[in-house]
Amino acid sequence: MNASESDRILHLRKELHRHNYNYYVANSPEISDREFDILLKELEELENRHPEMYDPNSPTQRVGSDISSGFIQAAHIYPMLSLANTYSIDDVDSWVRRTTEGLAGQDFTVVGELKFDGTGISLIYEHGKLVRAVTRGDGEKGDIVTENIRTIRSIPLELQGSGWPDFFEIRGEIVLPWAAFDRLNRQRADAGEPLFANPRNAASGTLKLLNHQEVARRGLDAYLYYLLGENLPCDNHYDNMMAARSWGFKVSDAMTKLQDLEEIDEFIRKWDIERKQSPVATDGLVFKINSIKQQLNLGFTAKSPRWAVAYKFSAERALTRLRSVSFDVGRMGNITPVANLEPVLLSGTIVKRASLHNEDIIKALDIHQGDMLYVEKGGEIIPKITGVDSDSRLPDAEPVKFVSHCPACGTRLIRVEGEAAWVCPNKQGCVPQIVGRIEHFVGRRMMNIDGIGEETAAALHAHGFVNNIADLYNLTVPDLLKIEGFAEKSAARVIDGIAASKTVPFERVIFALSIPFVGETTAKKVAKAAKSIDRLMAMPAYELEAIEDVGPKIAVSISEYFGDQENREIVERLKAAGVTMEIPQETTDTPMSDILAGKTFVISGVFSRHSRDEYKDLIESHGGKNAGSISKKTDYVLAGDNMGPAKLEKANNLGIPIINEDEFLKMIGTSTE
Ligand code: IVH
Repeated sequence: MNASESDRILHLRKELHRHNYNYYVANSPEISDREFDILLKELEELENRHPEMYDPNSPTQRVGSDISSGFIQAAHIYPMLSLANTYSIDDVDSWVRRTTEGLAGQDFTVVGELKFDGTGISLIYEHGKLVRAVTRGDGEKGDIVTENIRTIRSIPLELQGSGWPDFFEIRGEIVLPWAAFDRLNRQRADAGEPLFANPRNAASGTLKLLNHQEVARRGLDAYLYYLLGENLPCDNHYDNMMAARSWGFKVSDAMTKLQDLEEIDEFIRKWDIERKQSPVATDGLVFKINSIKQQLNLGFTAKSPRWAVAYKFSAERALTRLRSVSFDVGRMGNITPVANLEPVLLSGTIVKRASLHNEDIIKALDIHQGDMLYVEKGGEIIPKITGVDSDSRLPDAEPVKFVSHCPACGTRLIRVEGEAAWVCPNKQGCVPQIVGRIEHFVGRRMMNIDGIGEETAAALHAHGFVNNIADLYNLTVPDLLKIEGFAEKSAARVIDGIAASKTVPFERVIFALSIPFVGETTAKKVAKAAKSIDRLMAMPAYELEAIEDVGPKIAVSISEYFGDQENREIVERLKAAGVTMEIPQETTDTPMSDILAGKTFVISGVFSRHSRDEYKDLIESHGGKNAGSISKKTDYVLAGDNMGPAKLEKANNLGIPIINEDEFLKMIGTSTE
């Protein structure tokens, strides 16, 4: 190979690692984004021409490949422990006193840090290169998520500077910054997908995605706070972290050496206020003894180190006046009381509304008109009303009363026995319910019809074009053009989307119908068991109850839904329009053969001809069984690429035959040509 090209590849990699660090860690880019992209593109082209120079740590690998694979577990070298929590300055003071005793009166320095609210990670570096990333898991072992971690731009794939040990571990927190979290939740809301409650859940959920490209898009970040290994550069935590910073790791600027109780108290007071400006979620502070020798002296309890302690911030709370209570009507007719508040600043956002959940909660809190209410944001996005300041209540204030009639259509509300919610029974005539069902029906995880949001759904109904979900299939481009905001192109796109939705699988159609209590998972089980809408509509309650996940409540709900004449008509019209109302023959549970009867398979690795799930289905449809782990009962291991080494060893030890996908397909008589 051309020596100058290989030199150029190495040079570009080095340069791009450096620019990457300047941009994502040091916040001081030397070149423009465009110049960066040009260099990256050049490297990509050179690497394509020289596959023999493939390197998983190349800056080109950051975007992540689209290949999905399951996760393999690895044991932690040192267990990943948690921290003891404290909740007040007094608690921290007593930890300092205990530590003084533990160290027999020696002098010590404490390091104060932010406690990032994300998900813990352990990174292993060998010869200056990232080789493995493992989640906290159960503390003893976690999931290997190296490929996902490689997409995080602030994590160095190759270290810079000098002085790192040949082998070391560094731990830190993977976080989703507020801005990325808000963007992700907005996208999910638009797509009708459930929202993440907080950045912590979003970060850990993202780390476990199988699609590395999606991980790369979400914008995770990482802060490192703990260096471990045999040959660390310094004898104290603070200097080790400063060394790590010089190797390219993102170490928080908040990290501060503190000499005495006074400085610790000051640090707490300062960050209790400044954390509100932080671009990432924090849930407290961490204090650590600086000297590693002293850390070793103090040691660990079974659960946590004695040389460190967490101080948890209290949930932010604000007091504000109740302006009024309004009642929202959901697509299932559920009435939710909502407190309209005088706007108040809470954890960086202005809060104007908070859910009061149901009548029982209003009664339990004894809320009166015009009350001063305590609002809290306890790590969740929707603020909660947690209390009332009854001292400031106006003398003639009336208790808040739950409505007796639907605020939208005036129908008398009913309360189902054993349920806290009041419901409007006017399913077919109550506007927010109709519009809500249309909105749900078109959502991405349901019929996936683009271009119809809440406003459009309401306008379609207001113009008299769509009164129920079946009417969508009669919609025309000229109809849509009568609605504000639509032009030829956007209208045609919606109509195309509606036509395309006819091929959406049966299980998603069931979910899209808005049958009370039938969520996504239940819909799948129901569709699989019934196989067709005709069969489902004819199923008596006892047969419905026999379906996994379906209890008496859901069985009654399904029976009632299909017992309703209007719903039956809607279903008939959807069927006539060509919407998928059954599971295609070949994917039903009827075995294609019983060639694998009595045989148990374990699937491991990544496949090229079919997905793992398809292989699982194939095994079952030929009479075989799938198992999650290898045991004496396993007959075959169906292995793809990257089969986990532990599984391989176990299969070999037990003498279980390992077959590849071609061999498997031959086994079931499918041609592999
Ligand atoms: S040190 C043995 N420092 O909090 C000490 N942990 O509740 C290991 N965390 O599992 C942890 N910020 O995921 C440390 N500055 C920080 C931290 C931090 C967040 C997380 C970490 C840990 C959990 C303990």
